[in-house]
Amino acid sequence: MFLSEILHPINPDKFRNEILGKRIHWWKSPPGGSERYNKLYSWEHLDSYLNNWLNANHVQLADVNPQGKIQYDGSKWDKGRDGKLSKGDVYNLWRHGHSVVLPFCEFQSKYLWALVNTFEKQMPFGRGCANMYCSSKVNARTFEPHQDSTENFLFHIDGQVKWRFYKEVETDEKEYPNGFKLEEYNNIILGRGDLLYLPIGVWHMTQPLGPRLTASVHFQPKPKKIDREKMYDWYRWFEFQRETKI
Ligand SMILES: [Fe+2]
Repeated sequence: MFLSEILHPINPDKFRNEILGKRIHWWKSPPGGSERYNKLYSWEHLDSYLNNWLNANHVQLADVNPQGKIQYDGSKWDKGRDGKLSKGDVYNLWRHGHSVVLPFCEFQSKYLWALVNTFEKQMPFGRGCANMYCSSKVNARTFEPHQDSTENFLFHIDGQVKWRFYKEVETDEKEYPNGFKLEEYNNIILGRGDLLYLPIGVWHMTQPLGPRLTASVHFQPKPKKIDREKMYDWYRWFEFQRETKI
């Protein structure tokens, strides 16, 4: 996988010099390209992972606390840290409009692994990670407006998502102790085959417009040497052993 393919038609040098860290960029799906990210992750992948509940250690619900109640402070329920919700509880929350977030999906999909590896090798980033954002219906809950501390690339695999962007506006109103409030200055609707680059620090929130699958491939900003372990093709190796009667 080449960075020039992922960022096409923008050449990687131009991206590094003119866009990285400076502004949002939206790559619209080219004509006939709406299925171009289908191999990254699928609804079947999600089913398999969540049905293997005992071993599905990394499951998060956006804006839900351990009791299954909505949180308005942007925090989340994480099975890895607090396993109080059962598989049935999470399923019901999912069906009633809460989004599921799966971190570390680069270890579930060799295509996501290749994407993360390509960016780590060819861009001035630190370690990367691929999170899947999965929603079952229109207006499914996600996070409140927030900033991220990573460089984010959002691959829209299925469904549509409205992205809202905000700027800080100074105020001395008492309900804003930080001295600013957020004002929405733009919103866009991304769909299948679209890619969005979101620099560190941009205030944003998402609104799913129906069932959707989005891969968030994000990176620590400081470049450092990463010894990412290789992906192995275990099954083909096994076939080889069988064929050669070892
Ligand atoms: Fe975010």
